[in-house]
Amino acid sequence: MHMAKTSLLFIACIVSLLSHTACQAKVWQFEWEVGYVYASPDCEEKLVMAINGQFPGPTIRAKAGDTIHLKLKNTLDTEGVVIHWHGIRQQGTPWADGTASISQCAINPEETFNYTFEVDKAGTYFYHGHYGMQRAAGLYGSLIVDVADGEEEPFHYNGEFNLLLSDWYHKSIYDQMVGLSSRPMKWIGEPQSLLINGRGQYNCSLAAHLIQGSSTCKLTKDCEPVVLQVLPNKTYRLRIASTTSLASLNLAIGNHKMTVVEADGNYVEPFSVDDMDIYSGESYSVLITTDQNPSSNYWLSVGVRGRKPNTQPALAIINYLPNSPSKLPESSPPVTPVWNDYAHSKSFTYKILAKEGTPRPPQKHNKRIALLNTQNKLDGYTKWAINNVSLALPTTPYLGAMKFQIKHAFDPQPPPENFSSDYDVMKPAKNPNTTQSTNAYVFQLNSTVDVILQNANAIAENVSEIHPWHLHGHDFWVLGYGDGRFQEKDVSTFNLKNPPLRNTVVIFPYGWTALRFVTDNPGVWAFHCHIEPHLHMGMGVIFAEGIEYVGKIPRDAITCGLTGKMLINNHLP
Ligand code: C2O
Ligand code: CU
Repeated sequence: MHMAKTSLLFIACIVSLLSHTACQAKVWQFEWEVGYVYASPDCEEKLVMAINGQFPGPTIRAKAGDTIHLKLKNTLDTEGVVIHWHGIRQQGTPWADGTASISQCAINPEETFNYTFEVDKAGTYFYHGHYGMQRAAGLYGSLIVDVADGEEEPFHYNGEFNLLLSDWYHKSIYDQMVGLSSRPMKWIGEPQSLLINGRGQYNCSLAAHLIQGSSTCKLTKDCEPVVLQVLPNKTYRLRIASTTSLASLNLAIGNHKMTVVEADGNYVEPFSVDDMDIYSGESYSVLITTDQNPSSNYWLSVGVRGRKPNTQPALAIINYLPNSPSKLPESSPPVTPVWNDYAHSKSFTYKILAKEGTPRPPQKHNKRIALLNTQNKLDGYTKWAINNVSLALPTTPYLGAMKFQIKHAFDPQPPPENFSSDYDVMKPAKNPNTTQSTNAYVFQLNSTVDVILQNANAIAENVSEIHPWHLHGHDFWVLGYGDGRFQEKDVSTFNLKNPPLRNTVVIFPYGWTALRFVTDNPGVWAFHCHIEPHLHMGMGVIFAEGIEYVGKIPRDAITCGLTGKMLINNHLP
């Protein structure tokens, strides 16, 4: 058990005309086992989903153009598993996207699945479970792609740190999932802790603990605060990603400004901030310069945005060497902006623009769809729906079902591409009832699609929530944002000059967000709210394109449901 094996399979070297040898296209080989372990991420012992016994899972580090070959064994006792490589576009390998019921069958206990895919673009990424709510059980880790040999990052730094942010619940995900699908729904509530690299401190004000030397904190090895050791007068790159189940986050460092240079694996026009928001599914790189009084240490603080917080901020220590890491920072931890100061959040988000040289969007679109996000009821169950359809996942994964044109695998009726013009997004729906379906949006290959994400009031009055939407298989350009209901005249405000390329984007309460992408990646791709309980309650849609160009799907990806039956009967080619 837990035999971790990482090896470099081979390096393909090519000899260039200038007769120096450039080595590229490395193939990395990993063997992973997923299983539950006991751990104390926030000093309370719980079951945690781990990889090779590690939580968070091992960090994958490769260079742009490398291939990852990863053998995933499910050693959970009684449930399936898959792992999604968040931000990796899987061009040509849609069956390796790691989405249960969409790109593949869940891997059964004791079985193994091989993920082989290329990491084609440098950036900060992560991976996580994509079956049920396994991400919230702790199934995640970092995936970092460096620039290819001979290439350089467009900014300079002396060292780097990786901060994978998450939130943590003491209730098991089974308890959470059953609650969400009960009548009446039992909401999961706010997380008990926020974690930085899998460490947090429940019910313990770390600052007070360290300052007063006493309190209820019982720090064990699993939950010791993260310490970033820096030298004075250097520049560091912080890679920051959020895989939270629910929480939208804000990060700040005492006395230090941050310069944002990367978002979701794409370079952005650098801008400087005192604090930054990170929604679930997003990743950033920021640069900090250690130009403050070197005799002091400083706090890095991560707090909750967008929901009335009931969770302590997570803290890490910026330790200026040669100070002792336990030397207390002289200034107190930065205070997270007020949770509902949306103007503050918008001003941060609107500053994110593409760095010069980023591919520009096609100037015209071929198709536009509008997706209304609503909270609804279905026979007394609480759901989230898009254009009044709440997503239900089929038994037979879409990819195989579409490729082999299997009948009755999912609802063939195309989902609505718009919503009624008299829907009042500022008020609770007059009739909150919704429907459920497995239907999918099928796009023509290589067309330019605009998506208008429209937020609305939830079931309760005066409530509209933040939803970070994540697209699989593509990056998209964020053309614009607005408040209230999207109107045709808003098209004139679209940024076609330097819109940021991203894979995750937020819709603000009562607002809309417009994005554009090109359907250039044959496959079936989830597009969903990255808040785990929201997706579990149906907040997502399925996009598909160019299915006839999908290559040979590995058998292991389709050995369930109707494709599984047809394999047994030898009816699949
Ligand atoms: Cu990181 Cu479909 O999600
Ligand atoms: Cu949501």
